[in-house]
Amino acid sequence: MVTIRKARHGDIEAIYTIVYDYALQGLMLHRTREAIQQEIEAEAMFVAEEASSIYGVAGITVFDPSLAEIRSLAVNKSGQGKGIGRKLVARIVEETKQRRIEKLLSLTYQVPFFEKCGFHITQKETMPQKVWKDCIHCAKFTNCDEVAMVVYV
Ligand SMILES: CC(C)(COP(=O)(O)OP(=O)(O)OC[C@H]1O[C@@H](n2cnc3c(N)ncnc32)[C@H](O)[C@@H]1OP(=O)(O)O)[C@@H](O)C(=O)NCCC(=O)NCCS
Repeated sequence: MVTIRKARHGDIEAIYTIVYDYALQGLMLHRTREAIQQEIEAEAMFVAEEASSIYGVAGITVFDPSLAEIRSLAVNKSGQGKGIGRKLVARIVEETKQRRIEKLLSLTYQVPFFEKCGFHITQKETMPQKVWKDCIHCAKFTNCDEVAMVVYV
């Protein structure tokens, strides 16, 4: 059975590989090993594991007491379609609740998937913290085609 647990240092390579493959396809942002390590140290990254193999990853970034973002959500090809993505999202929603944060944001191309996880589409302009802290560094900043979605926890 797949379990979701906090990521450890020993997971860095598996996480890097999963994210790297999708980043190459332009489906998500690339994460360096150093960035993954920092997120693990901040206890902000989770993995889906079965029989000592890592099938998926998801992270949480907290902007302020009202807003967090789910990041680096990815399930490798062999794990897809088995409910692992949904479980990872549920774990990040739980983490958001535990940290008493009001809403969880996703910037994504996977709208139907996130709708199934309880998110709804919102205006990017209502998410100023995110835009100013991160998006300004993105090559797609002036031409962003990701959809902003939120869930209130
Ligand atoms: C998006 C992603 C995380 C989904 O993970 P997954 O483990 O395959 O999804 P699940 O099996 O948990 O699916 C949950 C539900 O969403 C649906 N779903 C999953 N991907 C979908 C898609 N691309 N389009 C429509 N529905 C989708 C499933 O059919 C399932 O519905 P059901 O419960 O009614 O049967 C995975 O496809 C992935 O890693 N994609 C590449 C990276 C990426 O785009 N990440 C998102 C960055 S924000």
